[in-house]
Amino acid sequence: MKNFKNIAILGTGNIGMSIADGLLASNAMSAESITLTRRKIERLDKYKTMGIRTTTDNLAAVRTSQILIIAVEPGQIDALLAEISPELRQDYHTIISVVTGVSIDQIAAGAKKDVAIVRAMPNTAISLQESITCLASNTQHESALEVGVSIFNTVGKTVVIEENLMGAATALGACGIAFFLRAIRAASQGGIEIGFHSKNALLIAAQVAKGAAELILKMDNHPESEIDKVTTPRGVTIAGLNQMEHEGFSSAMIKGIVTSANKAQSVYKKN
Ligand SMILES: NC(=O)c1ccc[n+]([C@@H]2O[C@H](COP(=O)([O-])OP(=O)(O)OC[C@H]3O[C@@H](n4cnc5c(N)ncnc54)[C@H](OP(=O)(O)O)[C@@H]3O)[C@@H](O)[C@H]2O)c1
Repeated sequence: MKNFKNIAILGTGNIGMSIADGLLASNAMSAESITLTRRKIERLDKYKTMGIRTTTDNLAAVRTSQILIIAVEPGQIDALLAEISPELRQDYHTIISVVTGVSIDQIAAGAKKDVAIVRAMPNTAISLQESITCLASNTQHESALEVGVSIFNTVGKTVVIEENLMGAATALGACGIAFFLRAIRAASQGGIEIGFHSKNALLIAAQVAKGAAELILKMDNHPESEIDKVTTPRGVTIAGLNQMEHEGFSSAMIKGIVTSANKAQSVYKKN
């Protein structure tokens, strides 16, 4: 982990809490070095009991933290930046925004200070330290990108991308959690139809999905070479797999990802 003083998450909702959970579980940061903000502060009570500072005061959080992770909704970021701008210090603060569709230029305009800005696109598996987080920065602030990478490496894997791929990162990396969860649910429903009780069907489907992912991530293999190992000629697996392809399995996944990426670009216009 790169050296820096305290970290604040400004706007601690779903993804903010997932990031906090991941940072705590990784032991990369102590509870005392983390500040969480939101307006409905009572929803952060569980973190308060862990020794994390929780507050509605964004300015106080900025004063005491060097790294500022912004995790509000896109429509809320301008007001937040206007609020914290007076306390932002050039050459000290780094803003890491996980806000979908708001570009580095837009954040810089709102911040009104030449602070380092990084965009990050994690997913909710960050709470289990299993996120894939895509990060981009403006070229003037390469060292800030290293800080971002070191933080998000503690809670999963990271990929550095050009900012113009942030919409694509949203679709594949963040929305992708929902796509694969739906695939697991579909497999478990098939399992129920062929005889398993729902609990066992879901357990089997989820563990199979985990095992398949580990074959790629840990063995560094290509999916097709692993598929070749389980598809014997005239066998059971190839019969089911080809039936799925006749029904548009790969095509549906590809089209869904392209649709989400297009929507991410069009809704937020920039990046
Ligand atoms: N969920 C995901 O999987 C995911 C993944 C990657 C990126 N993102 C992006 O992350 C952003 C947040 O998503 P989310 O799902 O976490 O939304 P969310 O649950 O609505 O969280 C946003 C939080 O910001 C707080 N907030 C709003 N204005 C504030 C202010 N002025 N000061 C302090 N806190 C403020 C809100 O709480 P109060 O009303 O209590 O203030 C709310 O809990 C979005 O841009 C989203 O696209 C989400």
